[in-house]
Amino acid sequence: MAVKRIGVFTGGGDCPGLNAVIRGVVHRSVREHGIEVIGSYDSFNGYFETPQRVKRLDIDDCKGLVAKGGTMLGTTNRGDPFDYPVEKDGKIVAKDRSAELAEMIRAEGIDGLVAIGGDGTLGIAKRLMDEHGIPFVGVPKTIDNDVGATDYTFGFWTAVQTATDAIDRLHTTAESHDRIMVVELMGRDAGHIALAAGIAGGADCILIPEIPFDIEKVASKILRRQKKRRQFSLVAVAEGARPVDGQVSVLTQRPEDEVGGQVRLGGLAQRVSDLLAQKCKMESRYVVLGHLQRGGTPIAFDRALATAYGVKAADCAAAGNWGQMVCLRTPDIVTVPIDEGIDSLRQVNLTGTWIEAARGVGICLGDQ
Ligand code: F6P
Repeated sequence: MAVKRIGVFTGGGDCPGLNAVIRGVVHRSVREHGIEVIGSYDSFNGYFETPQRVKRLDIDDCKGLVAKGGTMLGTTNRGDPFDYPVEKDGKIVAKDRSAELAEMIRAEGIDGLVAIGGDGTLGIAKRLMDEHGIPFVGVPKTIDNDVGATDYTFGFWTAVQTATDAIDRLHTTAESHDRIMVVELMGRDAGHIALAAGIAGGADCILIPEIPFDIEKVASKILRRQKKRRQFSLVAVAEGARPVDGQVSVLTQRPEDEVGGQVRLGGLAQRVSDLLAQKCKMESRYVVLGHLQRGGTPIAFDRALATAYGVKAADCAAAGNWGQMVCLRTPDIVTVPIDEGIDSLRQVNLTGTWIEAARGVGICLGDQ
């Protein structure tokens, strides 16, 4: 049966390049395949609202979109239809609204979806396909770059550029004041951003989730620099890094009645900064870069990659090639079965190029 209409949505945290994916999907679907594209706002939430917030997207809606950060469709990480937050007796409780959603998608005349999201969103889309017969094609999204099936996720190098710019700026003030500066970067389960930006920004120490760190090793690196009359140091930490004898730093525990979402990490830079100030007897300051890394204009590589993902996803949908995730296997954009795509956390390769490069220029990774 020929595909006539597809739905598109963005789910989970935003990421530079989401708009370029949407634009790629719309252009290719309309121009090449004569397929209509229906966007739903804030992931699936647009379907549940009255009136519904779903809209046909045409080429005109995509004007200027390739360069814009964020997502024109909005996004949320609190809209899992299988665990949907609803109010009951003044409390927020979870309800399974997936069957209702599947009916609404069918009523819209949609033959299948293009789901742009991380492992959480793509896992939900897969359940909708398996349990309610709504097929989809997945486009992986995360600035953390921790999806194993693809060489790069779009948005990653934009985040690295933002983090590198920040480290460059911190360098001059650290040097002027003879201080330690600790910068906290995103990266829950993988330290790709901290590692790449730390190398590019000339950090002295980089702490990542893959290498539990010994604070004594970090302090002695800084003290060795001091002996060489370098009175300042730059330390880049991924939010998900942890000490050898401790846990990751959790910023806030989730309120008991919160449905969806994930534990918020944060606070590591402050901990590391305080400990280093004590141990090195130096002044130390910390900065948490946070969502600056997710906001703003995507760099050229991410715009191009995101566009290619969008075009490939539209082609898959048109061919009825459902249950696939698009990914980059340089230089090609290919597809892999969704299970392979979702179950493939990629952490930093401890014997790979980037670790070798970091150690090669004398960066301390907290383990030696
Ligand atoms: O997964 C991407 C990510 O950027 C993580 O590195 C970070 O922990 C999380 O999103 C933050 O999400 P939120 O926007 O919910 O604070």
